[in-house]
Amino acid sequence: MTASLLLEQLALTANGPLERAMSADPRLYRDEAVAERETDAIFRQDWLCPGLAAEIPNPGDYITFSIAGDPIFTIRDKAGEIKTFSNVCRHRMMQLLEGKGCTSRVVCPYHAWTYDLSGQLIGAGHMERTEGFDKKSICLPEIRTEIWNGWIYVTLNPDAPSVADSLAPLHDVVERYGMEHYVPVVHEEHVWNTNWKLLTENFMEGYHLPVAHKATVGAWFPVEKTVFPDDVHDAFTYQTFQKVGNATYGHAHPNNERLEGDWRITSVLPTVFPTHMYVLAPDHLWYLSLRPKGVGQVDVRFGVAIAPEVDADLGYADERQAWIDDLVTFFEHVNTEDRQVVEGIFAGSAASQAAPGPLSWLEREIHDFQKYLSRRLGDGT
Ligand code: FES
Ligand SMILES: [Fe+2]
Repeated sequence: MTASLLLEQLALTANGPLERAMSADPRLYRDEAVAERETDAIFRQDWLCPGLAAEIPNPGDYITFSIAGDPIFTIRDKAGEIKTFSNVCRHRMMQLLEGKGCTSRVVCPYHAWTYDLSGQLIGAGHMERTEGFDKKSICLPEIRTEIWNGWIYVTLNPDAPSVADSLAPLHDVVERYGMEHYVPVVHEEHVWNTNWKLLTENFMEGYHLPVAHKATVGAWFPVEKTVFPDDVHDAFTYQTFQKVGNATYGHAHPNNERLEGDWRITSVLPTVFPTHMYVLAPDHLWYLSLRPKGVGQVDVRFGVAIAPEVDADLGYADERQAWIDDLVTFFEHVNTEDRQVVEGIFAGSAASQAAPGPLSWLEREIHDFQKYLSRRLGDGT
């Protein structure tokens, strides 16, 4: 089946009611032409999230990332502002920075061309015989960056509507948590063997919680109490859950003065299309930010942060680290459970008998995602 036909089929279910919605054709997750269209129509157009601004708190702190395969780095400059640049040297294209860290200057590991924190070339040896060479005229290309409620968002698209506008209705839901003050404690990179859309869809539905996560968070959420927004939004979707009384994580700390009533036991699970998703709980948050690596693999950035009053209550170094280690081990366990299912469905999607199946009301966000994909990729006509 051609990519155009697959997208026509997607449009049919996306434009119909949730009550008749089906999962997408298995080939949508494996088709190279669809993946190419996603690169151009999604990943080069929309906002992506390298992480939390609090992960780079000091001048010179940086974090590397990529957009549609283009290496970039996000760095805090001397004035404390967060900026993003191409991570490709203007001499002969060496990648400048790796991973995350802190630096007062960006020095290319190939011939030591040196850039300041605003991307300006300030040093280049042995260039005095090169005609017309003027280091002042050479700068790393800057990438559009916005900070929203503590998150960093970047895009290659100069015309993308601002994050603040696109996510305004979500701001009204999450603002009360003050997540820009959460303290990052973990940042990990993984590669999972699945299509990025299957992982996004998995995050967006709580239907699997009591089953796939019965050893961890499965018993904490009465799924029948899941609440979805009334409206379908272009740039995001979310659901809210309440945690039961004996849940290990997910309740407001007694010193939390921001949240009231049921919000003290409520978690919000936003997905900002296409690939930024997080669980925002009164005491912690954890997030995933995805980048496709071909049709069958996905780079997964995983981070955890804790609410400031939880952090303040953790005491001295050893005790603090032990508590954080327990928390992280727990969420790594949750991730392992998800990894098994999303790698399992990717393998299943290759079967000649694989076919779309009907969605539950608990999979409402998958339907929202289908609408988003269909809008971005077109219906093939
Ligand atoms: S490629 Fe960067 S200094 Fe030569
Ligand atoms: Fe899950």
